[in-house]
Amino acid sequence: NTNSQWGGRFSEATDAFVQRFTASVMFDQRFAKQDIQGSIAHATMLASAGVLSEDEKNLIITTLNDIAQDIAAGKFEWSIALEDVHMNIESELTRRIGITGKKLHTGRSRNDQVATDIRLYLRDEIDVIAHELTRLQQGIVGLAEREADTIMPGFTHLQTAQPVTFGHHLMAWYEMLSRDFGRLMGCRKRMNYSPLGAAALAGTTYPINRELTAELLGFSAPTRNSLDSVSDRDFAIEFCGFAAILLTHMSRMSEELILWTSAQFDFIDLPDRFCTGSSIMPQKKNPDVPELVRGKTGRVNGHLVSLLTLMKSQPLAYNKDNQEDKEPLFDTVDTVRDCLRAFADMIPAITPKKDSMRNAAMRGFATATDLADYLVRKGIAFRDAHEIVGKSVAFGIEQGRDLSEMTLAELQQFSAEITQDVFDVLTLEGSVAARDHIGGTAPNQVRLATVNAHKELAAR
Ligand code: ARG
Repeated sequence: NTNSQWGGRFSEATDAFVQRFTASVMFDQRFAKQDIQGSIAHATMLASAGVLSEDEKNLIITTLNDIAQDIAAGKFEWSIALEDVHMNIESELTRRIGITGKKLHTGRSRNDQVATDIRLYLRDEIDVIAHELTRLQQGIVGLAEREADTIMPGFTHLQTAQPVTFGHHLMAWYEMLSRDFGRLMGCRKRMNYSPLGAAALAGTTYPINRELTAELLGFSAPTRNSLDSVSDRDFAIEFCGFAAILLTHMSRMSEELILWTSAQFDFIDLPDRFCTGSSIMPQKKNPDVPELVRGKTGRVNGHLVSLLTLMKSQPLAYNKDNQEDKEPLFDTVDTVRDCLRAFADMIPAITPKKDSMRNAAMRGFATATDLADYLVRKGIAFRDAHEIVGKSVAFGIEQGRDLSEMTLAELQQFSAEITQDVFDVLTLEGSVAARDHIGGTAPNQVRLATVNAHKELAAR
């Protein structure tokens, strides 16, 4: 018995292993809903073009909707012998309504069908992901607002550099994620064109109306070249590129959260519900969620490389290689959704340990630059000021005291220009408040940034 969908020219059945090897229904049934959505649009268009009668169209659509319900209810039997989601659904349609079902595939190929389905599927997922990303950003802005005045050490080289506010640090995360959101929207916009009508590769001889199917499916327009339409997987690569950069950002955030929860930093507390314990060490509370997010960055980066490698050197137009685009794409979608959900739930529940952050900022001479700037304002050249402060810091290290903990007389050993007002700039609060310009760490600026962020999020 040869295959019912294309067995006409074959004289023996497909090898049982080859059948399994070439099948995709195990994973592409994931976009059954979008496959049916595409078929309904195609049938509607065929009727308007006079290729199907109104009755045939209506029967096809009603039956496809019934099948969609059965699939959603888990009552559909998928068959490996029918290879993929497209042939499974089409053959069930024909089983139910006979000859009319066989007419659905007129003027269409699985090549433009699958290209349409993945775009519809990914577009739906992008909308969910955009929503989760926005929810995470809202959580970050909310926390930043509450922590606009909270002082912590800022780092370069992971060495104490200058005091910053915790809110400012959080708003840096917000900026990374805003660029990710822009990339996601760019991807959505570029992919939102309808390949339907490209058929196998060259188009079709039927009087089809590609504008109509594009419109029915919510695409901006039909794609412009049939060969490109069936072979283009840029959108999948672009989506994985977005995901790899997003996860790179989230892995950086994770790394900081993990450091901050350690006894050595002790900057924040994560709620117990986002942590796990140890089966041997009773004291342990491990930051598993950020650790896993950091770890999952690896698989997402891997999927991006898989897709780039999959597409490399493929000649036009469709090649079966393209069936390999699905599993990396699906796993990327799932991973991104889960990571965003975990972070969107967890971030607003972070408890900053303000005293501990402040004490950490008191160590490491975080206000040394402020002292140098102070001396410049007193007429000393910056390089000389740098030298003077360097000596003061060396003295502080020897004494085990911060600059703000020295007496005026002690500071004056290094420069006669230092007077009582120096203590205004040596405080942590004075230091952050002085960086009061666009993008600076002053609490005023952080509050302004959160106001702007709320506006940006509301306009999405
Ligand atoms: N399952 C196939 C895929 O995922 C659908 C397209 C098959 N087309 C073909 N000519 N074999 O790409």
